[in-house]
Amino acid sequence: MSAVSHNPADTRVVLGIESSCDETAVALVRADRTIIAQRIASQEAEHAPYGGVVPEIAARAHAERLAPMIAGVLADAGLGLGDVDAIAATAGPGLIGGVMVGLVSAKALAMAADKPLLAVNHLEGHALSPRLADGTLGFPYLLLLVSGGHCQILRVEGAGRYRRLATTIDDALGEAFDKTAKILGLGYPGGPAVEQLARGGDPKAAALPRPLKGSAEPHFSFAGLKSAVLRTVEGGAHTPADIAASFQQAAIDCLADRLEKAIADHGSAPALVVAGGVAANQAVRSALQGLATTHAMRFVAPPMALCTDNAAMIAWAGLERIMAEGTAFTGDPLDCAARPRWPLDPDAAAVRGAGVKA
Ligand code: KG4
Ligand code: ZN
Repeated sequence: MSAVSHNPADTRVVLGIESSCDETAVALVRADRTIIAQRIASQEAEHAPYGGVVPEIAARAHAERLAPMIAGVLADAGLGLGDVDAIAATAGPGLIGGVMVGLVSAKALAMAADKPLLAVNHLEGHALSPRLADGTLGFPYLLLLVSGGHCQILRVEGAGRYRRLATTIDDALGEAFDKTAKILGLGYPGGPAVEQLARGGDPKAAALPRPLKGSAEPHFSFAGLKSAVLRTVEGGAHTPADIAASFQQAAIDCLADRLEKAIADHGSAPALVVAGGVAANQAVRSALQGLATTHAMRFVAPPMALCTDNAAMIAWAGLERIMAEGTAFTGDPLDCAARPRWPLDPDAAAVRGAGVKA
C-alpha cells in the first residue's frame, strides 16, 4: 500500500461513502470545502410500509445501489479513482449490515486504487459538518448532536477530540419525533411531518412533561414524553396539530434546559453548534439561536442538506483527520472493523438506563 508513504500535503480530494442507516450516499469533497459531486439515494419508499427502518432491507438496498452511485459520482466530477487521495466510509455506529456494505466497498476501492482508507465515525461526520459549511467556525465549540440515534451535548476540542457532557438515558430526540409521528398517523420518516403539522398548532395546548428538566444529572430523556403523547392522543381532547406543536415545544424546552446546565457546569464556548437530522427543524434552530444570543455565543447550524445523513460530511471528517494528523497520517488498516456502537468520547462515564445510546 502507498498509504504509509502517502504525503498528506497532496491529499486534497476524498471520496466519502455513507450507508449506516437508510440513506445510501456518495460524495467527493475537496480540502477547500468544495463538494465536487454527490449523490444521495433515500430508502424511504422501501421502509415506509413498515413505519421504520428494517435493517435487512436497508443493507440489501445499500448493496444494490452503492457501486453504481460511486461510478456515477466520479463520472459527475469527471474524475477517476486515481484522482482521489483517500477513500472514507462510515465504519459505525449504525445498522451493522449497512455499515459493512459501505466499509467493505471502501476497502475494496482503497486496495484496488492503492489509496489510504479512512474508517469514519458517523457521529464525527455530523459533529464536524458545520465546519464543512462554514470555514470560519474554529475549535472549541459546544455541540448539540441530535439525530435519529443520538442526543448528546459535546465539547468539540478538535478533530478526534470530543468530551461528552450529556447523552440520552433512553430515546434519541429524532426517535421521539419519529414515534410521535407514528402515534399521530403521519407515517415515516416522522421528523419533518411533525414539524410541518406543528406549524398550525398551539404549543401550549396539551400539558406534556419535560423529562429531566431541572435535574441534577446532565442527561436527556424522551421516553416519558413519547408515552405522554400517546396518552394525549388517546384522550381525544386535542387536535393532532396542537399535540404536534406541544410535543415539539416540550422537546425544545428539554434541549434548552440541558444546554443551560451544560454551560453552567462546564462553561461557555465561542460558538453553540447544532448538527444531525433534528437540526433541520426550524423551531429547534430558532430556539437555539435565542439561547446562544443570551450567552453571547455565536450560533452555527449547517445547511439543511448537511443536517440529515449524507456522504459529504463523511468525506469532510476524513479530510479533517488528514489535516489534523499531518505527516503522521497513514490511514486505517484494511482489517479495521465495522462497529455498531462507537462513542465519540470513549472516556465518558456510563449512564443509567437500559438501551443507552453511547
Ligand atoms: O442524522 P439523521 O439523518 O440520521 C441519523 O444519523 O440518525 O437523523 C434522522 C432523524 C430522524 O429521526 C428524523 O425524523 C429527524 O432526524 N429529522 C427531524 C427533521 N428532519 C429530520 N426531526 C425534526 N424535525 C425535522 N425537520
Ligand atoms: Zn446521522
